[in-house]
Amino acid sequence: MQKFIVKPGGEIRGTIRVPGDKSISHRVVMLGALAKGVTQISGCLEAEDTLATIAVFKSMGVSIEKNSQGQIIIQGVGLHGLKPPKEPLYLGNSGTTMRLLAGLIAGQNFSAEMGGDESLLHRPMNRITEPLTKMGASILVSDAGTPPLIILGKQRLQGISYNMPIASAQVKSCLLLAGMYAHGKTCVTEPAPTRDHTERLLLGFGYLVKKEGNTVCLKGGGQLYGKSIDVPADISSAAFFIVAACIAKNSEILLEHVGVNPTRTGILDILQRMGANIDLYNQREVNGEQIADIRVRSSNLHGVTISKEEVPLAIDEFPILFIAAACAEGETVLTGAEELRVKESDRIQVMADGLQKLGIEAQPKSDGIIIQGGKIRNGVINSHGDHRIAMSFAVAAIRASGTITIENCDNVATSFPNFVNLAQHVGIGIQKMS
Ligand code: S3P
Repeated sequence: MQKFIVKPGGEIRGTIRVPGDKSISHRVVMLGALAKGVTQISGCLEAEDTLATIAVFKSMGVSIEKNSQGQIIIQGVGLHGLKPPKEPLYLGNSGTTMRLLAGLIAGQNFSAEMGGDESLLHRPMNRITEPLTKMGASILVSDAGTPPLIILGKQRLQGISYNMPIASAQVKSCLLLAGMYAHGKTCVTEPAPTRDHTERLLLGFGYLVKKEGNTVCLKGGGQLYGKSIDVPADISSAAFFIVAACIAKNSEILLEHVGVNPTRTGILDILQRMGANIDLYNQREVNGEQIADIRVRSSNLHGVTISKEEVPLAIDEFPILFIAAACAEGETVLTGAEELRVKESDRIQVMADGLQKLGIEAQPKSDGIIIQGGKIRNGVINSHGDHRIAMSFAVAAIRASGTITIENCDNVATSFPNFVNLAQHVGIGIQKMS
């Protein structure tokens, strides 16, 4: 098992581009595979999670190759061109692959089984199996609502209007993708805005999607058309370096070509409210997604209150935001974030345990946490195999009194394979040990 050993201190400097956006990469591969014609992707994330999505479509007969310029080239097979996979589909750690794919598979005329690693086998799937069943899908799942999922083919799907009980982009996307195969109209209403990459990309691939207020609708029976897509750098990966530059002394970093879709920039809003020195430059739009270069300088952070509505807009950034809170003056209070308990790990408990181990007062609550800024000690942290927890504590070491060792870091490769190299490059004293 891989460990990170991170020395305290360091100034964070440099200009970097972090890898491609994970959410967008998954979706482009899926839509490209189901489109008519060729899709050419630049900047696609090549990490374990997105490679799992690519492998799944290859096993269903789609040709996906890399060209000499490093672009991923997909020969789309059309919405009805997938072939039955010969083996159960193994999705590793990737909840996004499982939930989105379930919607697509529900519309096929073949059956498929989907499984994954230990973490994925504990993640709740009833949030998708219940509405998919309402659409007419037939899905076998454990009594606990956890994978493996067996989706039985040849079901006639019917469009539904679904009021999502939780704000989840994965559920919304799953139902929209199933809706392409359903009779009539599928509408999904969300209780709060969540990332809207699926809607934007469907439109980009030529599939009509209508949005009114917090409801998004599409009709079955449309068509996707292959295209060239440039995937921006992932703000969720940039987040580690944004916080690193905020909490380190004499630091300034430039993160290039980062996706700043307003449904993803909660991290920037929360940090700016905490007093962070963050500026956006060269704002532009590429393939319907906003992109910017982000400059971050050393900052004196103070604690803030984070409300329920902000949670979906920063859902993956809370582990690193908790590190910012530990380095801030005063108290940070988060509520309405019970979803964090069902991510790749229970991110409220695992972060609270780690912070307490490092001498920070962190009080976990059923739906959030209260953190008092303080002095970070040295220590050994178990990341529980959660990529974002591992990277967050690596950043925490910048402000620690001694070395921080983080155990169980292999899964950093699920979203950010070159994290250690980039972290070293900008001045974090990190070493990887197997
Ligand atoms: C994602 C949506 C979020 C996020 C996940 C990626 C997506 O999950 O946490 O990492 O790509 O749609 P939920 O929709 O379950 O909140």
